Amino acid sequence: MKTAKPFIKWVGGKSRLLDQLEVFFPRELKNGRIKQYVEPFLGGGALFFAISEKYKIKNACLSDMNKDLILTYIIVQQKPEFLLDYLKQFQDEYDSMDQEKRTVLFLSVREHFNKQRFEINYRKISENWIPRAAQFIFLNKTCFNGLFRLNSKKEFNVPHGRHKTAAIFDEENVLAASTALQNAVITPSKYADCYNKVDQDTFVYFDPPYRPITQTSSFTSYTGNDFCDKQQIELAEFYSKLDREKGAKLMLSNSDPSNNNPNDHFFEKAYSGYNISKVFAGRAVNCKGGKRGKINELLITNYETYGKTI
Ligand SMILES: C[S@@+](CC[C@H](N)C(=O)[O-])C[C@H]1O[C@@H](n2cnc3c(N)ncnc32)[C@H](O)[C@@H]1O
Repeated sequence: MKTAKPFIKWVGGKSRLLDQLEVFFPRELKNGRIKQYVEPFLGGGALFFAISEKYKIKNACLSDMNKDLILTYIIVQQKPEFLLDYLKQFQDEYDSMDQEKRTVLFLSVREHFNKQRFEINYRKISENWIPRAAQFIFLNKTCFNGLFRLNSKKEFNVPHGRHKTAAIFDEENVLAASTALQNAVITPSKYADCYNKVDQDTFVYFDPPYRPITQTSSFTSYTGNDFCDKQQIELAEFYSKLDREKGAKLMLSNSDPSNNNPNDHFFEKAYSGYNISKVFAGRAVNCKGGKRGKINELLITNYETYGKTI
């Protein structure tokens, strides 16, 4: 069977960094002593799919506070065939249309998706979860850049992407993702709710909304809730609590403030005493002289790694 990969596009997705991140995994994951994987800011789940493919993990606890994202994961896990029927219909309809008609279809699905949120019981799986999961995937694949943004009324408001093609129906990958998710417990919750699940044989990966590098990059509104410095500090305190009280292996990603300001030591202060490393996340156009500068991300672990620590 095909290797599973994220079945949605997600801001901050880690697919392109997987090889670099693997260098920093705890050796207990590689030698089989880690039994459980916990990912409390799940998003597209790129790391979960990579780890579940390669390592022997008995169970995984996956969560995110985006309820529609989690609803969709649960449908992929439990009802993939029914979901695929809906996705096939969407794909056929979309492919047969010109761009104007596609926009009309996109807007009508978006309107229905927004109206229906009041009728959904997110705590109990039901028949109407399946078409909603299909709508979530349809909107994700056809909207502008795969963004998920809510307005103040909590309505999804991203415009139609008008791409030439959209991979709405990916049967092989949905089935592979469903298989990978079979030993996962998937819950809509805030990250701190994972506390009770974590023990010393757990590897926890945190990929929170990043601290904005610049004023203009402050797009963090995945769910309508911002993740500013106050929330970053609270997360650092939670990280330290898990380290002290549970003895789990912890790895956390975030933006690197020194990309813009070498004197900004926010994360060195918040995570003092832990290992902070840099991974190369791409290149950005440097306004000064038009050169393309290196953009790094931080990786913070509570264990020694084989990677280079700053
Ligand atoms: C950077 S994304 C995760 C990217 C993901 N690891 C991937 O590879 O695609 C951050 C996620 O955190 C979620 N989130 C934001 N605040 C949260 C909170 N307080 N508790 C749990 N999840 C939260 C958002 O819904 C979003 O999906």
